[in-house]
Amino acid sequence: MCPRVPSLDKKPLFFAALWRSHRRLTVAWWTLILVQGSLPAVFVVAVGILVGAVTGEDPLRTPLLLIGVVFVLMQVVTPLHTQVGSLLGEHVSDRLHDRLLVAANAPDGVAHLEDRAHMDELTAARDFDLGMTGPPLHLSMGIIAGGLVEAVAGLAQAIVLAGYAWWAPFLVGGAWLCTHWLLRESSQWDRDTGEVLDAQRRAEYSYRLAVDSPAAKEIRLFGLASLLTQRFATDRRDLVELRWHATRLRRKPMRWAVMVLVVSGGLFFWSLGRDAASGTIDPGQVSTFAYAAVGASALAFGGLNWALSLATDAVVSVLRVERTMSTTATARSVVSGREPAEGTPASEIRFRDVGFSYPGMSTPVLDGLDLTVAAGSSLAVVGVNGAGKSTLVKLLCRLYDPVSGKIEVDGTDLKDLDLESWRRRVSAIFQDFIRYELPLKDNVAPLGASPEEVHEALAIAGATDLRDVETVLSPGYSKGTDLSGGQWQRVALARVLCAVNQGAGVVVLDEPTAQLDVRGEAEVFDRVLEATRGCTTILISHRFSTVRRADRICVVDEGRVVEFGSHDELMALKGTYARLFRLQAARFNEAQDGADHVE
Ligand SMILES: Nc1ncnc2c1ncn2[C@@H]1O[C@H](COP(=O)(O)OP(=O)(O)O)[C@@H](O)[C@H]1O
Ligand SMILES: [Mg+2]
Repeated sequence: MCPRVPSLDKKPLFFAALWRSHRRLTVAWWTLILVQGSLPAVFVVAVGILVGAVTGEDPLRTPLLLIGVVFVLMQVVTPLHTQVGSLLGEHVSDRLHDRLLVAANAPDGVAHLEDRAHMDELTAARDFDLGMTGPPLHLSMGIIAGGLVEAVAGLAQAIVLAGYAWWAPFLVGGAWLCTHWLLRESSQWDRDTGEVLDAQRRAEYSYRLAVDSPAAKEIRLFGLASLLTQRFATDRRDLVELRWHATRLRRKPMRWAVMVLVVSGGLFFWSLGRDAASGTIDPGQVSTFAYAAVGASALAFGGLNWALSLATDAVVSVLRVERTMSTTATARSVVSGREPAEGTPASEIRFRDVGFSYPGMSTPVLDGLDLTVAAGSSLAVVGVNGAGKSTLVKLLCRLYDPVSGKIEVDGTDLKDLDLESWRRRVSAIFQDFIRYELPLKDNVAPLGASPEEVHEALAIAGATDLRDVETVLSPGYSKGTDLSGGQWQRVALARVLCAVNQGAGVVVLDEPTAQLDVRGEAEVFDRVLEATRGCTTILISHRFSTVRRADRICVVDEGRVVEFGSHDELMALKGTYARLFRLQAARFNEAQDGADHVE
């Protein structure tokens, strides 16, 4: 592995990010760097004057006062600077976070979040905050400020040497700069390799599993805690080793650095010693120049480039993510059309010979799927797990586009419809719907609705036991609470109903009642059908008691529609639907009998 030096030429991007995130703090930060960096030079000059005054028996008050002032300033400026730096770092972090979130949400489809290369970019871009491969930004700021202060201090003291001889700043300062340059690479490593990103992602995942509550149950039940800790430790160790390996390759520059220093330092101090001995310069000057020569070593401070390149990388990767996410030319990205979708569908939604496979997968999930849903009717979709039912509705919501064939709404290709207005028409409860850690009312109406609307939607969904719409639905908040699986499902249903109330005309229900008991389900479903009367409804369900209530039913198998018709038609067909229906009915009756016996 040959570690490349990342992003050194892009440092201006980092400083530009500082400026953009908070101007006043940035000015304060730079001012303090200059002040703090000049103090050591003033100090060595003051000490030189003091030594001169002592040996020349001059009054000591002025040099002592100067030393005192510089000393006090040094004490005061440092902590102040640390504060300003860390504040500024937090501002930059916030800004980068905002930009990442905006960028990740910019594409209209979701394929980018499943694409390996884009996920790698997102993982790398989050590191300014997570600090997996380096300190987080607010800490780096201190190191960078320290580095810049050292650079200014080194430079100022090298300039002081000009008082001794014109060549002295070049010899001494140059030697330290040279070591700085030689050593800067020794602390850097390539954080963007697949290996590093993999280890980083695994480590983050293990960590999230360990600390996020949804995983906590299984981890305890299956006794996975020690395995998880071990995995996390191994992944972190991998990262440390990758870094160490990269750093170890840099021994040669260190040898060179030592040689340059010995030669230049030897020459300077030999010359200084000779002039001191011959009396060409007085003891005060000897003290000043000797201290300044040592102080110029600050120019070699190696941490600056390291921290600066880390921080620059953070900015650069956010910029990269922004660029990728805004490239609508990215393969498989969803692009909005221009036709307004208001009032659609007036006649039908039609899938024509639709083929689809997920990005990066070769096997087709949908393969020549033809299906027509009449506007204002309800269609139930049944099929075994993995048949492609959820995929079908994801295409309808334009989270992905078909790879072949097309979906038409009233004869217009879905791709030609304005995406925003189409999505306002569609309301969906996905199988893996989101449980927002927000108040109940925002779970029901994320974009806002009147309390009456929220209560009504909850009532139709059968969630009348949830009354306080201000309660945050997460135990992690004060007075927050969690719900049962079935209650959550009712809340998600209420969300769809609220959207219908606000103008959605296409309703997608992907296994919306899987966690409700059979009686609850039938009851809720009747009410939902009633409330969405007039809407075009697509329902995916394994419960035939619900499915049979739909106007039309289709059976999807291996990515295509194999049966289509009303319940009665499909029963008469005596195909897959009829077989599955009978099987479930028989099981249900058995279970009922069993229950009756127990009773
Ligand atoms: N985001 C995804 N990336 C890759 N493959 C997926 C993704 N989502 C689903 N699949 C695959 O597509 C197939 C169909 O999935 P899905 O439509 O969810 O089936 P179901 O009929 O059970 O709803 C399955 O084989 C599944 O593994
Ligand atoms: Mg599904």
